[in-house]
Amino acid sequence: MTAELAPLPSKPAVAAPAPPLAMLCELSHRCPLQCPYCSNPTNLDAGGTEIDTATWVRVFNEAAAMGVLQVHLSGGEPTARKDLPELMRAASDAGLYTNLITSGVLLDGAKLAVLVDAGLNHVQLSMQDVEAPNADRIGGYAGGHAKKLELARWVVEAGVPLTINFVVHRQNLDSLERMIEMCIEFGAQRLEVAHVQYYGWALANRASLMPTREQLERATEIVDAARIRLKGVLMIDYVVPDYYAHRPKSCMGGWGRQFLNVTPAGKVLPCHAAESLTGFDFPNVMDHSLADIWANSEVFQRFRGTDWMPEPCRSCDRKEIDWGGCRCQAFALTGDAARVDPACQLSPDHALLDVAQIESGSEPPPYIYRRIGGLPGAPVKVG
Ligand code: SF4
Ligand code: FES
Repeated sequence: MTAELAPLPSKPAVAAPAPPLAMLCELSHRCPLQCPYCSNPTNLDAGGTEIDTATWVRVFNEAAAMGVLQVHLSGGEPTARKDLPELMRAASDAGLYTNLITSGVLLDGAKLAVLVDAGLNHVQLSMQDVEAPNADRIGGYAGGHAKKLELARWVVEAGVPLTINFVVHRQNLDSLERMIEMCIEFGAQRLEVAHVQYYGWALANRASLMPTREQLERATEIVDAARIRLKGVLMIDYVVPDYYAHRPKSCMGGWGRQFLNVTPAGKVLPCHAAESLTGFDFPNVMDHSLADIWANSEVFQRFRGTDWMPEPCRSCDRKEIDWGGCRCQAFALTGDAARVDPACQLSPDHALLDVAQIESGSEPPPYIYRRIGGLPGAPVKVG
């Protein structure tokens, strides 16, 4: 442990599992796009609060020493950091596989080449839709779609594996078949079709984004068919929405079990949306080592394992399958992160999800666009 870092009291109630294989590093909350479904907190870290290059380099080395194999360099927009090539090289030198999760609009062929030279192993490019007018309207960035198309081409030409990520919702889901075709045309290896998860900015925009049940069922049929048709050509990951579920997802593979997230300001979170929770004092890499935080911090222990669970989870045979679902969703819907995830039909709060049918059947309100400084007083219209 670095000398100036303070050790945490080491009396964990639940023994820490092996450290995760991958770590999400949010290098900056700054982003030229303003997607209304962003999972970042509605109070974003401003540029001046970002941890410096040397601290990130130490974090990469600590992660590698713990057994982490892969880092996802994300944001906001990670390319907003001028020291990204230096960070990429440091992660690579630490022996970590590097995945850049980017909107792509700040990159060009020359900047991509610098990152490849610094050790970039994989690119995950987010797209908003298949046609520019709606894609640029969703992202709140004119000309963004055209830049993404260019970047996809450069990545494939550079021989770097490419994943395309589409966050899907009521206002783009009908393009799903075309999204799949587009990935084939690009030469992408993998497509992630992720229904919006309603925390952070996405919760503020839920009424604009919630798909109808018919849209969801159609999308699931399309993905199922494409997975068979494109086996060996395109891998498709599919993240389903909780609001029409009977049982919750195993969010993060269980709190404090498989996932580490470092925020731009250096806070370490058990999930990327955890800053939406109140009553948590998240530990910081400026004060403690990553391994110490993983093993001993109160925040990571709070919902680790099954001892914290209320009934009916405590006596449920799925408790070590879904680990009680999502703490952020329980908090977002009930105000209490320790309640049963309302996505579970056995939850006393399950009826709260009926809002999905109501909101998806109503005229969508204008988007509230994501921006540094928090929720604006009034929605902003683009396009
Ligand atoms: Fe999962 Fe709890 Fe529902 Fe059982 S009762 S399925 S453990 S959320
Ligand atoms: Fe935070 Fe599910 S997103 S626990």
